[in-house]
Amino acid sequence: MKNVETLLRENRAWAEETFRKIDTKFSAVTLRSRDKLPYGVNENGFHIDMTERRRPWWTNGFWGGLNWLLYAYTKNEEYKKTAKRSEELLRPVADEFGRLDHDVGFVWHLTFGADYMLTGDEAAKNLDLYMAASLASRFILATKVPGGFIRAWNGKRGTAWDNYDRSIIDCLMNLPLLYWASDVTDDDRFARFAKAHADVSLRDHLRADGSVNHIVDHDRETGALTGTQAGQGYAVGSSWSRGCSWAVYGFVLSYLHTKEERYLEGAKRAADYFVENVKSDWLPRVDFRAPAEPVLYDSTAGACAACGLIELAKILPENEGGKYLEAAVNLLRTMGEKFCNFDPANDHMLDYGTERYPADLSPEGLKKAGVHMSIIYGDFFYTEAVLKLLGAEFSPW
Ligand code: GLY
Repeated sequence: MKNVETLLRENRAWAEETFRKIDTKFSAVTLRSRDKLPYGVNENGFHIDMTERRRPWWTNGFWGGLNWLLYAYTKNEEYKKTAKRSEELLRPVADEFGRLDHDVGFVWHLTFGADYMLTGDEAAKNLDLYMAASLASRFILATKVPGGFIRAWNGKRGTAWDNYDRSIIDCLMNLPLLYWASDVTDDDRFARFAKAHADVSLRDHLRADGSVNHIVDHDRETGALTGTQAGQGYAVGSSWSRGCSWAVYGFVLSYLHTKEERYLEGAKRAADYFVENVKSDWLPRVDFRAPAEPVLYDSTAGACAACGLIELAKILPENEGGKYLEAAVNLLRTMGEKFCNFDPANDHMLDYGTERYPADLSPEGLKKAGVHMSIIYGDFFYTEAVLKLLGAEFSPW
């Protein structure tokens, strides 16, 4: 097993060249998509604009976030202009409390939070703190035992959208907003909610083998798991790969903010499982326990997991970290070759993302479902991972 230093050195030229392609592409796309909140692309390869379709949506911070990542590394002012513009486009969503949900970290911390970290903009900091307060307000205290969790989604009791006692693995990625809020306000309540939620996630989302439950139902009095749901995976008890990647990176981030060993152990368990399930060809399937056919990929899972694997490699001793870095490099290089479109004429970069395991596997069903498409968070995490290989210091998390 090669050590971290050797692997970084050997892959430096690849990472530099790949970043050069990313920068060349996005310095064109950032101008074309300045007035959009992109999600996927249309048949001509141009971004679909969520400003028109669905402005309050969990992915609408990734475009601003990607531009802040690129600005932080290149100092190209055009990226900053686009990031600021995306904040203007998002801003009206903040005026309606009922449109905020558990994903305020993804949306606001990657945009306004990153803005504050990079420019010191006080108004951006304040808005992000409001979002932290709204996330903290979702905390459901288990009344009979210490602890609790952050409730997923919005909905009304007793209706089909009754999510009151439900938590999801994805929410680990919203916790950095709370850790950050504790840091900047010097008030540990936000971080205490974050840790309580991360602990429930360790207990109820992460399984013994390192795979995860996407959705968990809890007993409100004790917080205990009362049931699980397939969510975006193939079936109850299967293994949705993006959920696994949320666990890999999410537990690493909780470790980085708290230095609590149990989160590092959780991250390693999820990472070992993830690597075991992608190492045959380094192209992540949507669900690691779905039938082998049809072959359905989700590149976004690979890009997010790569970020967590690289961070693990930086945290762990050389001899242990090497295996995680090698896995991250294998994922990025293989997906770079097979799934990436670096042509500046198209808006999409990382293709073969998949929203969820499709219910209908007929050719028409697959066409309608969000299968094998580019999704903006795939581009965000792929770029973030390449920047990590290059030693970039800025992290919005
Ligand atoms: N957080 C929703 C998803 O990963 O699709």
